[in-house]
Amino acid sequence: MAEPIVLHGQRAWLKQYGPGGRALASAVLTWISRRFQLDALRPPPHRGGDAARDVEMRRLAELKAQDVNVPEVIGSGRATLVLCDNGPSLASCLRAADEGGCDELVVLAMRAIEQAHRNGAYFGQPLPRNMTYDGRAIGFIDFEEDPLEVMDLTQAQARDWLMFAYGVAKYYRHRPGVLQALLTKGLGDERASVLAHAHAVSGRLRQLARFSLSLGYSRRAAGVSILAIHLATLRV
Ligand SMILES: Nc1ncnc2c1ncn2[C@@H]1O[C@H](COP(=O)(O)OP(=O)(O)O)[C@@H](O)[C@H]1O
Ligand SMILES: [Mg+2]
Repeated sequence: MAEPIVLHGQRAWLKQYGPGGRALASAVLTWISRRFQLDALRPPPHRGGDAARDVEMRRLAELKAQDVNVPEVIGSGRATLVLCDNGPSLASCLRAADEGGCDELVVLAMRAIEQAHRNGAYFGQPLPRNMTYDGRAIGFIDFEEDPLEVMDLTQAQARDWLMFAYGVAKYYRHRPGVLQALLTKGLGDERASVLAHAHAVSGRLRQLARFSLSLGYSRRAAGVSILAIHLATLRV
């Protein structure tokens, strides 16, 4: 849980880490990701308390060293961090923007992800609510889970694109073709192995949905692919 506070006249964020948990959701997603070879969706351990705080601190330091725009840690306590304000969430910017504005934000966000990946970085859950935009630069927040504990870098970077595409899709319900074109263009410079894994996983998700339709199990198997992404993006 994160809440805005004022510290020395500046806006900041108090982030408190509750108990771990989500054991059932994690077990279901682990089973689905193994059964259907969806490596990029394998759930990282979801810790709580000081352990979650320590993962977030370590990840923030790693990302900063990789030149990624992440908030500074300005304080810490038991199961708590105090972070600098990184600006409004990308989700709030997308909600407020018109169509052209949304497209510009998505292009900027993809460029930021791609550039970070080139520096060896990965995120885990780059959904619009875990990204920021202060009018100048895209930033990234929320790092209490580390995907590299359960997958390699290529899979983790592929996971980022799946998460990002899933996260922005709801702003393109009426313009799916435009999003498709933006993604295709934005992914142009990504490593081939990352694209191949993202392609394989999204292909398997789509196959699952189609296969189910052909068998008349539409709800069930289409549900599996939706459930997989849904669980993988569960708000913590
Ligand atoms: N440093 C920050 N700068 C700007 N907004 C933040 C910051 N930290 C948290 N937030 C806001 O609080 C929300 C929840 O924080 P987050 O780190 O994503 O925690 P959670 O684990 O609860 O998802 C974010 O979606 C964002 O709106
Ligand atoms: Mg979050």
